[in-house]
Amino acid sequence: MPLRVLEDLRSLKGKRVLLRVDFNVPIARGKVGAEEDWRIRRVVPTIEKLRKAGARVVVATHIGRPDGKKPAALKTDAVAKRLSQLAHCTVAKLPDCVGEKVEEAVAAMKDGEVVMLENLRFRKGEEENDPHFAEALSRLADVFVNDAFGVAHRAAASNVGVTRYLPSYAGPLLAAEADALTRALEAPERPYLVIMGGAKVSSKIGVIAQMLSVADRVLLGGALIAPFYKAMSHCIGMTPCSGEDLEAVRELMRHPYYKKLILPHDVVIADPKDPGGKLTAVDLQEEPFDLCRDHEAILDIGPKTISAYASYIRSAKMIVWNGPMGWFEQPRFSHGTLALGRLVAARSKGRTFGVVGGGETVQALARTGLADCVDHVSTGGGAMLEILEGKVLPGIQPLLVE
Ligand code: 3PG
Repeated sequence: MPLRVLEDLRSLKGKRVLLRVDFNVPIARGKVGAEEDWRIRRVVPTIEKLRKAGARVVVATHIGRPDGKKPAALKTDAVAKRLSQLAHCTVAKLPDCVGEKVEEAVAAMKDGEVVMLENLRFRKGEEENDPHFAEALSRLADVFVNDAFGVAHRAAASNVGVTRYLPSYAGPLLAAEADALTRALEAPERPYLVIMGGAKVSSKIGVIAQMLSVADRVLLGGALIAPFYKAMSHCIGMTPCSGEDLEAVRELMRHPYYKKLILPHDVVIADPKDPGGKLTAVDLQEEPFDLCRDHEAILDIGPKTISAYASYIRSAKMIVWNGPMGWFEQPRFSHGTLALGRLVAARSKGRTFGVVGGGETVQALARTGLADCVDHVSTGGGAMLEILEGKVLPGIQPLLVE
């Protein structure tokens, strides 16, 4: 994907750079948790590069969905603090994201300094891509650098609107994301394996359909599988499955390459409300219809499935994985997800080109301690899926070389 990138800029010395990042991370008791700071870590090299070049860096992010309100829990103080610790520099938190006071504070910055604006979504104009808000943001900078891949599927003032007012470039993280994911879409190495999990099949139907056309096999896990089983008349108990999900699955079953889709052979069933309760691995061939009782749910893929999925992973030349295989936050139901994480990591960087994305999947991969072994770990969830669906993302479109 030919993008205008940071390296295209001759000199950044003394320039005010508006750096859009995606620091949309969970904040608990005013702090970013140790396992939750991966999106911040990934932007540290960009900050270092800009500071080294003598730029004055104005960092902007959204957190959560405050919808124009200003809840204290979604202020950017915690991410500013975490960034300052990770980048080893002072990151001054400004009281707002636009306005006279903010403009004055930015005007007083020295080369190499970093400030953090308040949550962009505290202003309704952000999500509405309001040109007035975009123009107000643009007054804070000479150049716009977009490193917020995670929000590139949204058209907001801070990633789309602002590009009408400032010379705009892709940051290193966004450029790397676009490269890796475009490679998976346009130049797949075969056998090309896609693994999808998580919940809400209706929101993932587009990408699963696209992947059935592009990939050689699509393996499914997580709550995503429930509507498939329900459509085949299995009892799925309490496993979430909406009418919309069921409809989406029925449509997918008519896909010309539906046979490429692989469902688990066995699944782990338990009562989700009874943390210490009995846990059963049910083989779908042996128990064709009585998968779950009313109070039970499908909570992980089973051992036979892990072994079958391992064979696919071992022979693949390219793997894209998005979505956990079960309720991995609970150690008893984390085996499928963690096993796949270890397998994908073990094959990556050499025998396979491995791409992993989606907040929960990245969190699970981090628990294996092997995230660095994977070729590309995406900071995007929705953005990753939409690129793989073949869409040109609104946040990337204005950065394309014409
Ligand atoms: C994300 O976390 O996926 C991005 O920051 C986008 O957030 P949103 O879904 O609230 O727009």
